[in-house]
Amino acid sequence: MSPDPFYVTTPIYYVNDRPHIGHAYTTILADVLARYHRLLGQPTFFLTGTDEHGQKVARAAREAGCTPREQADRTVVRFQDLWRRLEITHDDFIRTTEDRHQRVVRACLQDLYDRGEIYRAEYDGWYCTPCERFFMEKDLADSNCPECGRGVEQIREANYFFRMGQYRDWLVDYIETHPDFIQPDFRRNETLGFLRQELNDLCISRPKSRLAWGIELPFDADYVCYVWFDALVNYISAIGFGVEPERFARWWPASYHLIGKDILTTHTVYWPTMLHALGLPMPQTIFAHGWWLLGASKMSKSLGNVVNPMEMAERYGVDPFRYFLMAEMTLGQDATFSEEAFIRRYNSDLANDLGNLQSRILKLLQSKCGGRLPPCPPLPVAGPEKDLWAAVQQAVRRLHETVLGMRLDLGLAEVLQAVRAINRYLEIKQPWRAATADAEAGEPGLTLYIAAEALRVAATLLLPVMPGRMMALRQSLGLGDELDFARLSTFGVLQPGTPVAPPAALFPRLQAAAPPPPEPPAPSAPAAAAQPLLAYDDFARLDLRTATILSAEPVPGADKLLKLQVDLGTAQRQIVAGIAKAYAPADLPGRQIVIVANLAPAKIRGIVSEGMLLAAGDGKQLCLVGPAADGPAMPPGARVK
Ligand code: MSP
Repeated sequence: MSPDPFYVTTPIYYVNDRPHIGHAYTTILADVLARYHRLLGQPTFFLTGTDEHGQKVARAAREAGCTPREQADRTVVRFQDLWRRLEITHDDFIRTTEDRHQRVVRACLQDLYDRGEIYRAEYDGWYCTPCERFFMEKDLADSNCPECGRGVEQIREANYFFRMGQYRDWLVDYIETHPDFIQPDFRRNETLGFLRQELNDLCISRPKSRLAWGIELPFDADYVCYVWFDALVNYISAIGFGVEPERFARWWPASYHLIGKDILTTHTVYWPTMLHALGLPMPQTIFAHGWWLLGASKMSKSLGNVVNPMEMAERYGVDPFRYFLMAEMTLGQDATFSEEAFIRRYNSDLANDLGNLQSRILKLLQSKCGGRLPPCPPLPVAGPEKDLWAAVQQAVRRLHETVLGMRLDLGLAEVLQAVRAINRYLEIKQPWRAATADAEAGEPGLTLYIAAEALRVAATLLLPVMPGRMMALRQSLGLGDELDFARLSTFGVLQPGTPVAPPAALFPRLQAAAPPPPEPPAPSAPAAAAQPLLAYDDFARLDLRTATILSAEPVPGADKLLKLQVDLGTAQRQIVAGIAKAYAPADLPGRQIVIVANLAPAKIRGIVSEGMLLAAGDGKQLCLVGPAADGPAMPPGARVK
């Protein structure tokens, strides 16, 4: 039986700006998965590309004083150059301005229109000319634009809508019966939380009078297609939907759509309903990863704190950068980026553990075995050799499980454990103490062969993450270009007598970065004793509970407030909280917090708030209070006492 095909995608990136670490992260993750599955012998297709239509790109072009097409052409090369530099092995790169894509989008639109899945409707709304955005009456802030606060103008506009609302029950049922469809689990719950509200039809057109940069609707030349409807289709247009049926059938459905958490709704609500309406099967897994943060905030151009991946690769090397991103982020969670953390991990995992091990083994092979691999001994059935091989085989198994379970960080930690086990084995055996004369055929030769063979396995496991340096490591052990992934569990692959390379530093140690300047002292909190004391009975009347945030959105016209929907286990609550300065709405879903659950509901800015969340603040910073991350998982609704 031929192995299952593996099809992995990244989001297609907007060409309004240069690539940053978030883009690099998803693309490297997709690359690692693609390389791993190729090594397993699976036919693999890895797709990435750029999203080139719509408002964002049109605006960036205007600001740069060029046409949208020029803006796209200039920016796309930055992505392509970066992928080349980061050793990304995508099989295709799709641009949404390409004819092969536009044709498929138009065919999908026409098909849906012909079958009544898309209809035209007129509706009233409010338009903000500076923001170029259309708002419903309910979204206005004191009758003004909720984005910029300026005046809005009422307009009546006709548009085209996709009948998305009718698929809500089908989608809920699909998600509930396919637990792997949206991952991690808490993101599935977030989508289900979103689907608890009514699901509106999706406006899929923009009148050309407002935005001309898009794919023209095949049934109305006065309109272009909404950018998300256009962009999502890339996942099927690139593999020949409607054009090359055999190729399409070979790859669809996708194994993984990798996305960031901020584009969950478009991928887990719009896209599945579009596919369903087109009569196509669902992708196997839509996996949303967290964000790279700098300190506590998201990286963004406006905050000026964007990490440039090209610079990181130039300064520290491509492979260490790839390794850091993969090892440091728990898939699904946010992670904090800092150069200090990078250097710390580089020095401990790569320079101390892996790099030292390689140079130690090569040095000993030079001094004790004449620069050649010694004879291959039978693997002892007991003792430190057997334990070492077992540790390495455990890493083989665990890496496999964690790649399939999307916990690559854990898998890499296991491989590094195995590397440390090889170092420990050498410490126990001390082959450097043997006299050179009898070294090769005797005990030191056996020790060095086994250590080198174990290192071969570890280096091969790390190939998808650090392709360049692990290939060099393998070559230093006398291995050729042919990859022996199928022989990870076979002992004795290294060929006795093969010359090995002289030792060289694979990962030279880095100087520690200058420590960050000390934090200014926090203003001291008011002394507890100065507060009137509370009787225990009064405290006991508070019903404090854990809750999980399902969704968060800004409150128009109130820059400190967010409106949250939270899951209290037995019920869903709406809470208006003054945390907008400290938390971005997209960061909150899935987070566990503590709320006062028996507070009388109150209206804040006209919005009902059914409880209050707890947050710690020192006047400068604010931090949500929740169950400790290292404790047992708490279900929503657990009593806090
Ligand atoms: N064009 C859309 C995607 C269309 S897919 C059919 C888009 N593009 S984007 O360029 O703005 O963002 C692409 C991806 O980068 C998103 O998955 C987003 O989550 C991710 N990231 C943006 N900032 C990020 C971090 N700081 N950290 C990790 N990923 C981040 O959205």
